[in-house]
Amino acid sequence: MKLLEDKILQSGRAINEDILKVDSFINHQVDVNLMIEIGKEFAEYFKNEPITKVATIESSGISPAIMTAMALNVPMLILKKQPSKVLNDNLYQTVVTSFTKGNNYELTLSANQISENDHVLIIDDFLANGETATGAIRLIRMAHATVAGLGILIEKSFQPGREKLDAAGINVYSLARIKKMGAGFIEFIN
Ligand code: G4P
Ligand code: NA
Ligand code: NA
Repeated sequence: MKLLEDKILQSGRAINEDILKVDSFINHQVDVNLMIEIGKEFAEYFKNEPITKVATIESSGISPAIMTAMALNVPMLILKKQPSKVLNDNLYQTVVTSFTKGNNYELTLSANQISENDHVLIIDDFLANGETATGAIRLIRMAHATVAGLGILIEKSFQPGREKLDAAGINVYSLARIKKMGAGFIEFIN
């Protein structure tokens, strides 16, 4: 998606070979007009899937996910990293390991918010090692629901996530695919 690639070149910053800072339009401040266009782009790409819900992982996936859900006219589900104390015990849970942040957390979804008839499109900001995405897929499948696909804003194609998800047969659509980056440069896959 040229709009997102241009924004990344203009306002993103590769702080080293592995980490891209996008605080001014995705992770801290949010470019709302960009998110609207991203939502329309995902809705168009996945229009032939019988999607009933859009799911994301808190917190940075929420803004693109809500715009995608709006464009598809379906509800959005937020997969939680911390189970709420007031949630009942009817929960699906799976442990996710983040290599980027060096921590583990329990991804949680209430059984009341999903059914086996759901076709779920997962949206997230980054695809790196694929651990968050595979955790989200595990949760949706625990509910016997169907994963319709995965929409990603920024794929770091030099990390293993994309290959893992392709091998698992998931339909992945990444709006910007970074081949290589470093101080002062960012190179996309065409
Ligand atoms: P993985 O899910 O693909 O395996 O990736 P990993 O665990 O390594 O990444 C975990 C967190 O780090 C995610 O945020 C992800 O968005 C973020 N992340 C990964 N690579 C980058 C990067 O190059 N730049 C930035 N800005 N973030 C990156 P999170 O823990 O889910 O937190 P949140 O931001 O959604 O709240
Ligand atoms: Na994220
Ligand atoms: Na993030």
